Amino acid sequence: MTIDLYSDTQTRPTPGMREAMARAVVGDEQSNDDPTTLALCARVADLLGQEAGVFMPSGTMCNLASILVHTRAGDEIIVDDQSHIYNTEAAGSAAIGGVSVAPLRTPAGIFSVEAFAAAIRPPARTAPRSALVSIEQTTSFSGGSVWALDDMRRIRDIAHERGLKAHIDGARLLNAVVATGITAADYADGFDSVWIDLSKGLGCPVGAVLCGTGEFVVEAWRWKYRLGGAMRQSGVLAAAGLYALDHHVEQLRIDNSHIRLLHGVIADAPGLGFDPTAGQSNILCFSVTGLGVTAPEFARGCLAHDVRVRAIGNHQIRVTTHIDVTRSQVERAAEVIRAEAVRLSGRETASR
Ligand SMILES: Cc1ncc(COP(=O)(O)O)c(C=O)c1O
Repeated sequence: MTIDLYSDTQTRPTPGMREAMARAVVGDEQSNDDPTTLALCARVADLLGQEAGVFMPSGTMCNLASILVHTRAGDEIIVDDQSHIYNTEAAGSAAIGGVSVAPLRTPAGIFSVEAFAAAIRPPARTAPRSALVSIEQTTSFSGGSVWALDDMRRIRDIAHERGLKAHIDGARLLNAVVATGITAADYADGFDSVWIDLSKGLGCPVGAVLCGTGEFVVEAWRWKYRLGGAMRQSGVLAAAGLYALDHHVEQLRIDNSHIRLLHGVIADAPGLGFDPTAGQSNILCFSVTGLGVTAPEFARGCLAHDVRVRAIGNHQIRVTTHIDVTRSQVERAAEVIRAEAVRLSGRETASR
């Protein structure tokens, strides 16, 4: 059986989760009448210390709805250059919001407070208006690095002083919570919007919850509806979310520890390059340029031994741990990755 480290989106609902979904009490979500969805929104809002929440079909819609509420066409948003908003989401902010993106070049997806402050444009008739900053906690394509709370707060405060809104893409915020012991509410405090994904490490099939003030959520709801994201008997999905919050948060701690284990085995493998922040949560990225192969070639080599890793671009490999990968599978995957690096580095040396 293939050990799938491609993404924590590969998880399958557990039997317990499926049972909770089957038992869910449901109503019409679009009419604000689905009790299980309302319970989930209240629960996540409470977890994040926010006034209200809205159930979304995806994290992508959480980011897009937040951008659409916080900006107007012609505005600019500041993000890291590896961010999900900038690199994927089919450029929804540009296509639908008419918003341009100022990507900050970062080591490991974390930009400095100074770089952020310098990127805010002084008001000028000719310039886009800097309107929003987004922080990805934890970083996705940059290897799961965890933002320091203090930096997040300084960025939030500077944003507010300079008239920008501050957003947290919290697809994996709870991985940061279990990694640091800082509560989700502390991370989210004072931000204008924040969300968590249910369909990643929490193991649900669908969904995310976007939170903020009551006023923000009313506006986010409008966008959800306009974008076709309003649902009917969504309680079957929300029940999975409630189940995950009861049963799967501790799993995130295990997922993080599995990445540390894997990192420990391959950290000194020949030809692999790691960021100093590597191994902080449930994602690990490394470069294979030192092996003289492309990332897709390296990934194919691992797959030949039943380990699926993800090539991100030409040089980076990303591995992600999750509920469907056991400790012994992680140990096996680490051996395969290490052996592949050793094999390729030998080939390199031999051909020199
Ligand atoms: C950091 C980050 N933000 C946003 C998203 C989008 O979430 P979804 O897949 O639920 O649309 C992802 C998904 O991988 C992500 O990793």
